[in-house]
Amino acid sequence: MKRPYIESLIQARKSCRRFEKHSDEFPGKKEAITAICQAANSAPSAGNLQAYKCLVIHKKERIKRLAHYCQAFVRDADFVLMFFSDSASSSRKYRHHGALFATQDATIAATYAQLVGEEYGLGSCWIGIFNDAITSTFSIGDLSPIALIPFGIKEGKKTGIKLPDSPVEGTKHRKALTEVFVMDE
Ligand SMILES: Cc1cc2nc3c(=O)[nH]c(=O)nc-3n(C[C@H](O)[C@H](O)[C@H](O)COP(=O)(O)O)c2cc1C
Repeated sequence: MKRPYIESLIQARKSCRRFEKHSDEFPGKKEAITAICQAANSAPSAGNLQAYKCLVIHKKERIKRLAHYCQAFVRDADFVLMFFSDSASSSRKYRHHGALFATQDATIAATYAQLVGEEYGLGSCWIGIFNDAITSTFSIGDLSPIALIPFGIKEGKKTGIKLPDSPVEGTKHRKALTEVFVMDE
């Protein structure tokens, strides 16, 4: 029996800490960001509350600044998704479970994002260690940062990007993308 594609995708993904260094944007970057956010937005969440938000950091100067708060290799990423948990919104329904559920909502969404990034040939790495001062420059209200996922072209794989001809439409009952994913300007 042919192995389902998702299994090969899971086996193919590994943390990428070396991205192609280039100052220009790769063709299809915007479409890749949309597709990855769409996938993350489709992830399961406690009570379908989606108790997290995500800052999409896509400008080179801002990414370089971001790298100072975590790891040097992040500076070469093409874009970074920064996930925050929204414990208050989950706690309204789930009381003391709220903080844990909001963290889980954010991390499941980040996992979906990483896998779909891999599907398009983009490398990524989960960043869980960052300086707390990061929120002085990268924040969404007073939400708690959970994880950063830098995405980029894997070193030596310039031709490895394959994007869909048309974006996969979300078919689930979910918040609008713009409600969850905030563009960093
Ligand atoms: C919660 C969590 C935190 C992590 N934090 C970091 C990090 O701060 N920096 C880093 O380079 N990798 C980080 N990683 C990536 C792990 O080192 C990596 O996933 C692990 O070694 C397994 O390798 P693989 O991703 O290639 O399968 C983190 C992964 C997770 C799940």
